[in-house]
Amino acid sequence: MITVALVGTGNISRFHIEAYCAFPERCKIVALCDISEKCMEVKERYNLTEAEVFYSHTAMLSAMNGRIDLVDICTPPFCHAHIAIDCLNAGCNVVVEKPMAASLEECDAMLDAEKQSGKMLACIAQNRFRDQFAALKKAVDSGLIGRVLHVQVDSLWWRGLSYYDLWWRGTWKSEGGGCTLNHAVHHIDMLIWMLGMPEKVTAVLANTAHNNAEVEDISVAILQYPQGTLAQITSSVVHHGEEQQIIFQGEKARVSVPWKVHASVAAPNGFPKQEHDESLERKLNEFVNVAPMPYTVHKGELENILTALEQKIPPFITGADGRNTLELISAIYKSGASSATVKLPLGKDDPFYTVKGIMAAVPHFYEKSASLADFSGEITTGRNL
Ligand SMILES: NC(=O)c1ccc[n+]([C@@H]2O[C@H](COP(=O)([O-])OP(=O)(O)OC[C@H]3O[C@@H](n4cnc5c(N)ncnc54)[C@H](O)[C@@H]3O)[C@@H](O)[C@H]2O)c1
Repeated sequence: MITVALVGTGNISRFHIEAYCAFPERCKIVALCDISEKCMEVKERYNLTEAEVFYSHTAMLSAMNGRIDLVDICTPPFCHAHIAIDCLNAGCNVVVEKPMAASLEECDAMLDAEKQSGKMLACIAQNRFRDQFAALKKAVDSGLIGRVLHVQVDSLWWRGLSYYDLWWRGTWKSEGGGCTLNHAVHHIDMLIWMLGMPEKVTAVLANTAHNNAEVEDISVAILQYPQGTLAQITSSVVHHGEEQQIIFQGEKARVSVPWKVHASVAAPNGFPKQEHDESLERKLNEFVNVAPMPYTVHKGELENILTALEQKIPPFITGADGRNTLELISAIYKSGASSATVKLPLGKDDPFYTVKGIMAAVPHFYEKSASLADFSGEITTGRNL
């Protein structure tokens, strides 16, 4: 039985608690920690009678000494790193919500703590546990679409003005960035999973509609890969309808999520024929016509983490994956802030390696004009497929 502690019992913690509660024979929530009374509310709402409640993670670690196998961190981004490091140093395995941290320096300190402690560090990127994205990955890996020429990543979300009124959102210091870091992180993780890291990034950042936030509400980035592939990422919280998509264009076919395949055939003059390469389209469609995953999104990823702990194997999404995502996002911020093309990787001497360096270099679009301690209401976590 894996014992689990949750640190941060706000909006997203619901998805985590419901996932753990789905596997009562494999895990048990033994501690809940928050700096507010929300941990007590959560304990009551989910009837977690055996969970002890704490108001600081350090108090939790000393009181629960040796009785926690896995700490699940669902706090705002600025405190992911120090909480994760304290938990790893106390001998606990850790899973941290996205984004892994607010800087590469913090990610490296977390990875060092993982290595020193011999414990596991996993990072949430739950969208890899969706049938269509798994099918897209298989289709790209199969090579059937030929060389990848272009990838279009539309990480399109919509958030009203009040979104940035929550106390930790909308500042570089506590949110760590805007929609590129906190929303597009999902699609950027998947792009790297499918295509790897680019060589160069050129980006523009703007805040077009949220005059109560320091951070960007839209960014457009062009990525160049060593093999000549171009990718473009639009990260946004100003897109009505949130029509998120990832489209791979290969030499032989297009394949995308939401799922669509198309394999053009050239007429002698180079224009597309009416008929497609139906045989190739059929083969590509086979990737999506398979049995659905038993567990998806947060439940899928947390089940994988339970399996990793039970079998003493690495989780599917590691701290190194979380770091890669943050490195590409840091490069987008660097390019946007400097109006220049940025080469990857970013070294330890790069200003964008540290929170201090990022904060000194990025544009502060507007002053944050409101700070609410809490919001009630439902949250959503992306396009339903
Ligand atoms: N994977 C996803 O789809 C997804 C969706 C939404 C949010 N998130 C991520 O989850 C994290 C939390 O977001 P949220 O929307 O739940 O925010 P939230 O504000 O609703 O909840 C965060 C909670 O952390 C608590 N907290 C803050 N500092 C703390 C500390 N030092 N120790 C203990 N508790 C502390 C707050 O009191 C609050 O209850 C963020 O990193 C966010 O990016 C992920």
